[in-house]
Amino acid sequence: MSRAPEAPLSPESFAWLAAFLKAESGLVLSEASHYLPAQRLSEIAREQGCAGLEALVARLRGGRHAALASRVVEAMTTNESSFFRDARPFAHFRETLARLGAARPPGVPLRIWSAACSTGQEAYSLAMLVAEAKAALAGRAVEILGTDLSRAALARARQGLYRRFEVERGLPPSLLARHFRKEGAGFRVSGALRAMVCWRRHNLLERLAPAGRFDVVFCRNVLLYFDPPTREGVLERIAATLPADGLLYLGGAETLRGVSQRFEPLAGLRGVYAPVFCASAQPPAVGAAAARLRARPSPSPPAGAGAAATGRGPARPGIGGGKAAAAAGSRST
Ligand SMILES: C[S@@+](CC[C@H](N)C(=O)[O-])C[C@H]1O[C@@H](n2cnc3c(N)ncnc32)[C@H](O)[C@@H]1O
Repeated sequence: MSRAPEAPLSPESFAWLAAFLKAESGLVLSEASHYLPAQRLSEIAREQGCAGLEALVARLRGGRHAALASRVVEAMTTNESSFFRDARPFAHFRETLARLGAARPPGVPLRIWSAACSTGQEAYSLAMLVAEAKAALAGRAVEILGTDLSRAALARARQGLYRRFEVERGLPPSLLARHFRKEGAGFRVSGALRAMVCWRRHNLLERLAPAGRFDVVFCRNVLLYFDPPTREGVLERIAATLPADGLLYLGGAETLRGVSQRFEPLAGLRGVYAPVFCASAQPPAVGAAAARLRARPSPSPPAGAGAAATGRGPARPGIGGGKAAAAAGSRST
């Protein structure tokens, strides 16, 4: 039996829900998305025994329902993702990996953050490239952290179990064969690859703590859901984690023009950004390294330009207490 269509929210409840979502997650719920609450929240309303969306919002407005509030926020997020999404940023990351691997002093792990990683395809794509770069990395450890607001998305990321259509979107057959095994109707990421990634719930509206520094941050296809001031705040927090020769990768449809002074686009590379430091905060060597990088994005800077150039010592806190530090590609799949 088909269910009666959900009655739309009153303008007042819609406005309250929009303000609530923005405060909790940064998500902007515009009038043009008036259909979204019915699409995403009807199931929760039924489970909660609410007569409809209006009653669900009334319950939220009453407060004292922290778990329900989180569920509603998470249900309103869009978790669309795929392996090697858009291809080009990942091809560029492969070069970045080799360059940064050569630039860091021995024993210093590279640290990669997949921020708003959704169901994990982005972080696993990065892990596959790290595993494939075994020779270039010469045993250097690489730590990968995947974070997202959505617990449900993170649970799927941890499981590393994907449906056939998900692995058929963007994943080259050779990598599927090497890093996945068939399980039921789907494909499970190998244990070795799963051990390379640490997962953590994190809201981009907050500072990641303890974060340390990241050499590379992927924050793709999430800023577009935020308004400019929220984007600026997120970018400010990301910039604080990056060294001068680190890089930020955004989604193809996302631009920082007019949003943040903290990043500069790499010439000819859509969606790849280098951090900018104000004169007082930037040691001269860091500026030189960043300038070299912008002029010539791909090739490696001279060996030894690492910790000195970035103002960074070898001792940095590890992701997940170092649990995820894996000698790149050192485990067989
Ligand atoms: C469209 S997915 C992008 C996934 C992946 N980065 C990609 O490009 O394929 C957007 C993700 O951002 C997450 N998200 C939305 N608001 C967030 C916030 N305030 N903090 C952290 N993650 C958030 C959502 O849960 C969702 O998984």
